[in-house]
Amino acid sequence: MDFAVGEVSTLLLNRSNGMSNRDASDDTAASGRATPPLRPPSDRVPCNKTGVCSRSYFVVVMVFFHVYIINVIALLFYVHYINGQEDANQGLDAPSRNHPHAESRPPPSKSAPLRDVSLTRIEGIRVGHVQKVSLVPSKVHEMRTLSLKPLLFEIPGFLSEDECRVVMQLAQLKGLMESQLMVQDGQEELAKELNLSPEEIFNLLDINQDGQLQLHEILTHSRVRDGIWLTPENLREIYAGLKADKDGNDLLSLDEFKLLSNDAFQRFLLQRGVKRSQLVRNSRHTWLYQGKGAHRVLRDIKARVTRLTRLPPALVDLSEPLQVVRYEEGGHYHGHHDSGPVYPETACTHTRSAANTSTPFETSCRYITVLFYLNSVEGGGETAFPVADNRTYDEVSLIQNNVDLLDTRRNCDKSNLKVKPTKGTAVFWYNYLSDGKGWVGEQDEYALHGGCVVTRGTKWVANKWINIDPDYQRQARYQQLVSQQPEDEDDEGFPLNPDQRSSDTHQEL
Ligand code: OGA
Ligand code: CA
Ligand code: FE2
Repeated sequence: MDFAVGEVSTLLLNRSNGMSNRDASDDTAASGRATPPLRPPSDRVPCNKTGVCSRSYFVVVMVFFHVYIINVIALLFYVHYINGQEDANQGLDAPSRNHPHAESRPPPSKSAPLRDVSLTRIEGIRVGHVQKVSLVPSKVHEMRTLSLKPLLFEIPGFLSEDECRVVMQLAQLKGLMESQLMVQDGQEELAKELNLSPEEIFNLLDINQDGQLQLHEILTHSRVRDGIWLTPENLREIYAGLKADKDGNDLLSLDEFKLLSNDAFQRFLLQRGVKRSQLVRNSRHTWLYQGKGAHRVLRDIKARVTRLTRLPPALVDLSEPLQVVRYEEGGHYHGHHDSGPVYPETACTHTRSAANTSTPFETSCRYITVLFYLNSVEGGGETAFPVADNRTYDEVSLIQNNVDLLDTRRNCDKSNLKVKPTKGTAVFWYNYLSDGKGWVGEQDEYALHGGCVVTRGTKWVANKWINIDPDYQRQARYQQLVSQQPEDEDDEGFPLNPDQRSSDTHQEL
């Protein structure tokens, strides 16, 4: 910014210098002629009063010039003021590394306005824009904007080769578990839970209200059945197995739909058997804690993420641990959001303990995803953003002509954006928009993404999610609660391992 200010003032100086030089040389030229007799001042300018040398013309030019200067000065003040605010925000709620709790946010008083923290949101400027970022003392990283919807960046060399190796080794030492278990039996029927009649469900699914259900109308709302990803072919197979679509035209009438009860659906899937490749997600993962006592590399990564995202360190400290994921050849992760939409009745997993309401809905509120590629994949395994920078978002058009854009085993080539996994590169994006007042707003529907099928070799990635509750009060209450915990018990703010909600004991590595 200093550079920009300098540039503007130099520009101004040159302009004014240019003008006076021109005036001066004009004078010299005039004085070079034979000395003219002195004339009354009014006669000194030998040109037309309405021409460019007239006094009124001079006044207009000077007024214009002054307004211009005043505008530039005002602009400089504005830029200075905005920068000052950002710096102040970064300082807010930022505990030092040695005393993570000492400086946590003071308890919010009920009457005072609570927006004492404003979240910095990095500007994307335009796709392809590169900004330099200082994350470690010895190196300047380049951060490239990959898309504006969602706001998505790529930073090559974010992790060193050694760091990638250490993270993979620590994960192996800890042990990875299946990311998705095979079909669970005995799940409550959704329809029963929702208390809807088949007619009502039919009506809800019939998006174009033509009295028939097209394949995509069923898939849009039930791509996933008991954790199994359904393709148009699967659906046809199910219709055939249950003899639901008697005329075989891919359309279900209400009567045909009634044959497709949830029970029958589930029984069919169980009988047929399910392969890993038919799950929503085919990978293994583990969680690595990054708090006190964690491996230096893990703590360094957390500190670097804090610098990168320019968020208050307390927020990063209190987020989920690092998730390390391994995909074997043939592994994939179909299109999904890392975070759910937030309605007033939805609670965030991380602040749930502090929320004094009980609510049936819970979602992980992950404001930012930082995804690290720990190896370069030999074949496939790209991260796909099917609707990145689409001009419009339309959930229904995600399936068109039997092509499901969220199916990362088949349709990654039709994604708007794909990121190739390169060892050490980090990508990060915002899963929520801003609320316009410095806090978390609506979920960003364009943040849909998935992991394309790995066609050769294995793929290792890590996720650092930064959890922020879109409800500011709940986030503040949560931070207050954590800050009151005795320090020795609290080596990591995030209360529960996302996979072990019933127990918060964990083994440090
Ligand atoms: C995830 C994810 C993408 C990838 O783990 O949530 O979206 O490329 N991963 O593996
Ligand atoms: Ca229809
Ligand atoms: Fe994801």
